[in-house]
Amino acid sequence: MRMPAVRFDRALNSVRNVPMTKAILLAGGAGTRLFPLTTIVCKQLLPVYDKPMICYPLATLMLGGLREILIISTPKDLPMLREFLGDGSRFGIELKYAEQPKPEGIAQAFLIGAKFVGGAGVSLILGDNIFYGKLDFYREALALKQGACIFGYQVRDPQRYGVVEFDRDGKAISLEEKPKHPRSQFAVPGLYIFDDRVVEFCRELKPSARGEIEITDLNLQYLKRGELRVKQLGRGIAWLDTGTPTSLLEASNYIATIEHRQGMKIACLEEIALRMGFIDARKLMALIDRLPKGEYREYLQRVVDEG
Ligand code: DAU
Repeated sequence: MRMPAVRFDRALNSVRNVPMTKAILLAGGAGTRLFPLTTIVCKQLLPVYDKPMICYPLATLMLGGLREILIISTPKDLPMLREFLGDGSRFGIELKYAEQPKPEGIAQAFLIGAKFVGGAGVSLILGDNIFYGKLDFYREALALKQGACIFGYQVRDPQRYGVVEFDRDGKAISLEEKPKHPRSQFAVPGLYIFDDRVVEFCRELKPSARGEIEITDLNLQYLKRGELRVKQLGRGIAWLDTGTPTSLLEASNYIATIEHRQGMKIACLEEIALRMGFIDARKLMALIDRLPKGEYREYLQRVVDEG
């Protein structure tokens, strides 16, 4: 059966030259909830259908137009992530790596990455967060000049996440990390955008009762200054969980269903690099030559042919 043509999404072109260029992808943690799957391979390298999990958050950053990315992981897992993704040049991006010796909190990423961040604004994505749908919400948020921007996503089980409460005008009024009694159904996904004060604010944070520098405490720094924007994501966006064996399987099934239906891949990094203009077709063809024979290579060949 002939697959449908892969069409160039012209809208993507409009996001080049976004003011923000840097992002951190946090891919550490112990992955205990997925044991024994994570005994040898870290969570972010486990398959979500046809590719390792980390491809999905990396794709989100690339689709946001971000090209300078610091990947943070454990001393044990970092070499494997580096072996998989390299320096990013094959995707037309720059990947750097840093160790987080112990999982001492999500916001610690900014202390570890202080030099990388420099005096710039930066986005953070968690390596186990998968977004699918039109990413305009993210591209618009990346235009942020001052303050921070996070998102609110309605879920059935908000107590498992950071939870944001809105007033009648849709303004965020409270934020809590995994509250027993959530004040709303809106979870905060693991995708954040901060201005150039993020490192300074992180330095002021104290570890929580569970010994972590909490991302929610960082967000509260901005909220209390009236500088936190919280955008509600509509139901047209899928934010998938990968934290348990069941949710990992559901995420795989979701990706497989859409890919089969459309004949297009989700989070195919080489394809995204081409469509974002990070690499040209000639470079992609050179990459394809080095890929093993199989379905992934055939797909990329089709992307080039039908461009
Ligand atoms: O997924 C969104 C949620 O992520 C937010 O709603 C919460 O506010 C936020 O705290 C976080 O909650 P989780 O329960 O998912 O956090 P967890 O400790 O599982 O860490 C999320 C990912 O970040 C996980 O893949 C491991 C990684 N991580 C976590 C910590 C604490 C690190 O790489 N280093 C760390 O120190």
